[in-house]
Amino acid sequence: MTSDKQPRGGGSESPYITATFRIRRFNPEISDEATWQDFRIEIDPKERVLDGLHKIKWDVDGSLTFRRSCAHGICGSDAMRINGKNRLACKALIKDINPEKPITIEPLKALTVLKDLVVDMEPFFQAYRDVMPFLITSGNEPTRERLQSPEDRERFDDTTKCILCAACTSSCPVFWNDGQYFGPAAIVNAHRFIFDSRDEAAEQRLEILNGQDGVWRCRTIFNCTEVCPRGIEITNAIREVKRALITRRV
Ligand code: SF4
Ligand code: FES
Repeated sequence: MTSDKQPRGGGSESPYITATFRIRRFNPEISDEATWQDFRIEIDPKERVLDGLHKIKWDVDGSLTFRRSCAHGICGSDAMRINGKNRLACKALIKDINPEKPITIEPLKALTVLKDLVVDMEPFFQAYRDVMPFLITSGNEPTRERLQSPEDRERFDDTTKCILCAACTSSCPVFWNDGQYFGPAAIVNAHRFIFDSRDEAAEQRLEILNGQDGVWRCRTIFNCTEVCPRGIEITNAIREVKRALITRRV
């Protein structure tokens, strides 16, 4: 299928190229089988994969289904497999992923596909909820904010950056083999509170992650760290949680 939208600009100076988007399609109302479908679109290589998906949805096939919201790498809703690697479609520039060849676009792995590029995120969010990703304290509420030194705040700065896109968890072979594993994103968000000097429930979170589906399942494969769109040192965060578990027993 081809977008009939004409390139803006004219003549030899047009920045537009023709790119092929090879998209994994699945509609349970039509078939139990997923299929590949090619779309040839005119696009400026400086645009993003998300822009290409919009062109297809708006100009060629309105049934194409995918999630997106902010379009600026903040909401985490448009993680998908692009040329075999988990990325945010809104941060993947066409020129950076070799538009000479078909660009393959698939839903995230190991999460149930609901339609086209939309997966069921509930198991992912359940693992997130299970680590209690909120500040837990006892005693009287302070009348002003809970103070913390810059050094104490720095301790967990990296893991505050998570946007819950699931790129890490769905790139982890341990999670592929057994969806019971908490997965890197849940551990990252547990880390964010375990190392927060104001929080009082680190022990509880460590105990949760000490279970059979917790941190010890991590095989230090680094897939998670490689795909994280926020550049979080995920494997390091998991290592710090493991170390906290070991040292608390001493
Ligand atoms: S840690 Fe990175 S890859 Fe994983 S959910 Fe958070 S932002 Fe996405
Ligand atoms: S649409 Fe929000 S991160 Fe891509």
